[in-house]
Amino acid sequence: MTHAVLTERILDATELTAREAVDGCLSRFDALEPGEKMELRTKDSGSEVLAKLQALRPGEYEWSPIEAGPPVWTTEILRRAKPSPRREVLEALAWDHDRLDALESEAFRARAAGDLQTAFDLYARFAAGLRRHIGFEEEILFQAFEAASGTPAHCGPTAVMRVEHREIEDLLEQIAGGIGDAASELDRLRSRFHAVLGDHNAKEEQMLYPTTDYLLGAETADRLVRKIQVYEGRSVRNRG
Ligand SMILES: [Fe+2]
Ligand SMILES: [Fe+2]
Repeated sequence: MTHAVLTERILDATELTAREAVDGCLSRFDALEPGEKMELRTKDSGSEVLAKLQALRPGEYEWSPIEAGPPVWTTEILRRAKPSPRREVLEALAWDHDRLDALESEAFRARAAGDLQTAFDLYARFAAGLRRHIGFEEEILFQAFEAASGTPAHCGPTAVMRVEHREIEDLLEQIAGGIGDAASELDRLRSRFHAVLGDHNAKEEQMLYPTTDYLLGAETADRLVRKIQVYEGRSVRNRG
């Protein structure tokens, strides 16, 4: 169980009906200050809650699945400081890059402080989030980009991004395997990881995401972000 990033604002809806979970989550969400977050625990993926947020609070929240059950699914819901009725791929996914970077830093701060269990838990949360991010890019975003730009999947920018994802996943596995062990030497691996991921994210934020927004137009880009929120795809279970 992770402690350091858990908020006091937890809604355990595992014993509630779907209707109660939706109503309870909405009222907790409305009580959040801008920039605050809560944690939702459900006995399914929480898709009914997400559908309600998408319908009634468009652009006001960030939906970040943390761990997939069964038996319990955990999702972090943040009230956006600057809500916008329509989302864009660039701002939504650049925000996710930053969220994940912060988790990775927290994990290594815990390790430096000698708290190996927290380091392990936080890194597992980071790794699950990054795997999900890679999953929705490859299964949703890249396909939309390829269709809109007429670029085939086997060449062009998305092909390069896929190759980089494999290297990122490989480094992620290696670091996840050592983060909870004080004897592991991770400095060089982590430097390599930062170089590859930093360069990859910069390319996405400077080229792929804005081009996708431009090609799709505001309405379709917003629909794509909603589809990404719903994405369950590859398991987000903490495997770190
Ligand atoms: Fe990516
Ligand atoms: Fe990305």
